[in-house]
Amino acid sequence: MKNFDFYNPTHIVFGKNRLEELDSLIDKNAKVLILYGGGSVIKFGTLDKVKASLKNRKIIEFGGIEPNPKYETLIKAVEIVKKENIDFLLAVGGGSVMDGTKFVNLAANYDGEKLTDLLKYGFSQALTIKSLPMGAVVTLPATGSEMNSGGVISYNHGKHVISNPALFPKFSILDPTLTFTLPASQVANGVVDTFIHVVEQYVTYPVNAKFQDRVAEGILLSLIEIGRETIDNPEDYNIRANLVWCATMALNGLIGAGVPQDWTTHMIGHELTALFGIDHGKTLAILQPAIWQVRKEQKREKLLQYAERVWDIKTGDDDNKIDLAISKTRDFFESLGVKTHLSDYDITAEKIDDIINALENHGLTAMSETRDLTLEISRKILEIAI
Ligand code: NZQ
Ligand code: ZN
Repeated sequence: MKNFDFYNPTHIVFGKNRLEELDSLIDKNAKVLILYGGGSVIKFGTLDKVKASLKNRKIIEFGGIEPNPKYETLIKAVEIVKKENIDFLLAVGGGSVMDGTKFVNLAANYDGEKLTDLLKYGFSQALTIKSLPMGAVVTLPATGSEMNSGGVISYNHGKHVISNPALFPKFSILDPTLTFTLPASQVANGVVDTFIHVVEQYVTYPVNAKFQDRVAEGILLSLIEIGRETIDNPEDYNIRANLVWCATMALNGLIGAGVPQDWTTHMIGHELTALFGIDHGKTLAILQPAIWQVRKEQKREKLLQYAERVWDIKTGDDDNKIDLAISKTRDFFESLGVKTHLSDYDITAEKIDDIINALENHGLTAMSETRDLTLEISRKILEIAI
């Protein structure tokens, strides 16, 4: 096992009707900025519940954070935080709203000249920042943003990762009933995103991290068990509660502690979203089977472990086991209604050059757990993903 730090200060408030406790989780004198997305929280009543809980306070609202939140939108909220002397940021929504709120926090407390500097690779990690306390009311189980210190911000035809220990939410309210209104395709995206967060930290090379491996496998097995079921039965509380908790635990540092991590699928996936507007989860389902096909040798031992322990594939030679595990993974995504080829989104081979150029422009020329995944290999992956 590698050396690691594990730090996670987020207080999770999980279960039905826990939103009623919101007011007690925020300092009583705090002036609160509530940030939300394109309107689902208005339509389905979550914002009203939030406001009812905070009824005796000064609150200001900032709506309109779009999926794949844009820098240009978020800087408007930065102005409000400064002008109104906001003390607390409350994100009400999915990953885009939570990530956007983290950026607003980072930017409102940054005294450098250019806020766009914060989006340069690794820049935000290196800073020691003052930050405002923030909290989240989660309406979409997928990104894990509710219990991690990262975010992804869209700017200038790219998706930029921000990360800083000061950006962990102080608390996150996870009431699975708030997710019942999600359309099936967003639930499916959430299952896939969670699945890929796990395999980015698990299908690498072995370091004898038995606990991390077993927890990773537990999350994958749970997702396979409940994925289709929670799409078909959106108001079944117990099934949805399992998805919500899997999503949070997949990317809160627990299974990634002390193990190698890949993140190739995410990095290429971000380019597909930036160039073609494909939902985050869907980009991952397109890329993962192709990446494993191309990286079979580098990942051989863990792919075999994945085949045997997650898909219960015990017979056949090693290559057959791996191939079957890859095709079962693809079938699982397709069974959720998520397409797994670029051509399903009308993206043809002529577009591969654009994707490779974007990767190059963003410095993504040596990816993966072994840092040897070149642009040439990315091209091969994309050719297979067509
Ligand atoms: O904007 P509104 O109107 O609220 O509608 C949203 C949005 O259209 C809707 N929605 C959310 N909750 C709902 C609902 N509709 C009905 N009922 C509800 N309860 O769902 C749509 C998608 O929302 P979004 O927040 O964009 O989805 P998601 O949670 O999948 O977040 C995706 C973003 O997270 C980033 C992605 O890159 C992408 O920008 N990621 C963040 C990570 C992190 N912070 O650690 C890691 C991830 O890998 C990911 O990269
Ligand atoms: Zn993701």
